[in-house]
Amino acid sequence: MSAARDPQTPDLRRSHIVDDETAVTDVVLDAMAGAADPRLREIMTSLVRHLHAFAREVRLTEREFEIGIDFLNRIGKATHDAHNEGMLFSDAIGFSTLVCFQNNGQAGAMATASALLGPFWRKNSPCTENGGSIVRSPTPGDPLFADCRITDPHGRPLAGVEVDVWHSSPVGLYENQDESQADMNLRGKFTTDAEGRFWFRSVKPAGYPVPTQGPVGDLLAAQRRHPYRPAHLHVLAFKPGYKTLITQVFVREDEHLESDVVFGVTRHLIGDFRLGSGAAPAPEMTGPWYRLDYAFVMEPGEATLPAAPIK
Ligand code: BEZ
Ligand code: FE
Repeated sequence: MSAARDPQTPDLRRSHIVDDETAVTDVVLDAMAGAADPRLREIMTSLVRHLHAFAREVRLTEREFEIGIDFLNRIGKATHDAHNEGMLFSDAIGFSTLVCFQNNGQAGAMATASALLGPFWRKNSPCTENGGSIVRSPTPGDPLFADCRITDPHGRPLAGVEVDVWHSSPVGLYENQDESQADMNLRGKFTTDAEGRFWFRSVKPAGYPVPTQGPVGDLLAAQRRHPYRPAHLHVLAFKPGYKTLITQVFVREDEHLESDVVFGVTRHLIGDFRLGSGAAPAPEMTGPWYRLDYAFVMEPGEATLPAAPIK
């Protein structure tokens, strides 16, 4: 009787000489079976199975294989401290949104209050008093007053939530993409008060194209897809005991609301940026100004922070 094989020990008696196309997948899976971490084993086994099945399904040619490898290498080369092409690729093929759905909103069962992080979140946004402005250098655009509230799923206010807010300028560039903006322009960190509120001043965001100078831009062009995101505000809310909420609020009237290039829009996340009436919330808000009132819900869970896509 032969001893049962420990799944973590590769079968050293098994030859890994590959006899034909049908044999290669099992041989590779066997070679990887010794991974000590069971989750790594599970993920890599599935990845290899699906990648091999993909190549079989499309009958990948050697030329196409080269193009694919070159595409991956170009993603790596295009990535640096201020730009994350890998994240952009994941976003542009809907993968980030899939993972977001799977991990929020009762594991994808319902519309989620979350949205993809995107490639532009930076750690250490400047701490800003409630009511303060995140406009840190002259920035064109209509003044915006955002009045937001965070509750738990029962509607109870959550105090002491640390909330990062960031958005692009109305010319469509984040400060890290645009030398004319001050460092950390249109970024701020707020803390909710006893009623779960945080509020701040900014300018109304505009839609913008995702960066198209790299391989993802080439892919979008080849697929005849426009590169635009509808105007939105990003929020990352952190409080121990609650699942970190990463989300976006979209401008309802934006022309690209129904065709976000990175598939981030859910109906839940469409906000009303209304023309303000009455006295402006701050004296420097002259002329027409907008207000956004929005309520966020955080679910109990683990508070973790994602790795920042850029420095
Ligand atoms: C963003 O909203 O910041 C973003 C998300 C995905 C790709 C590019 C930008
Ligand atoms: Fe964005």
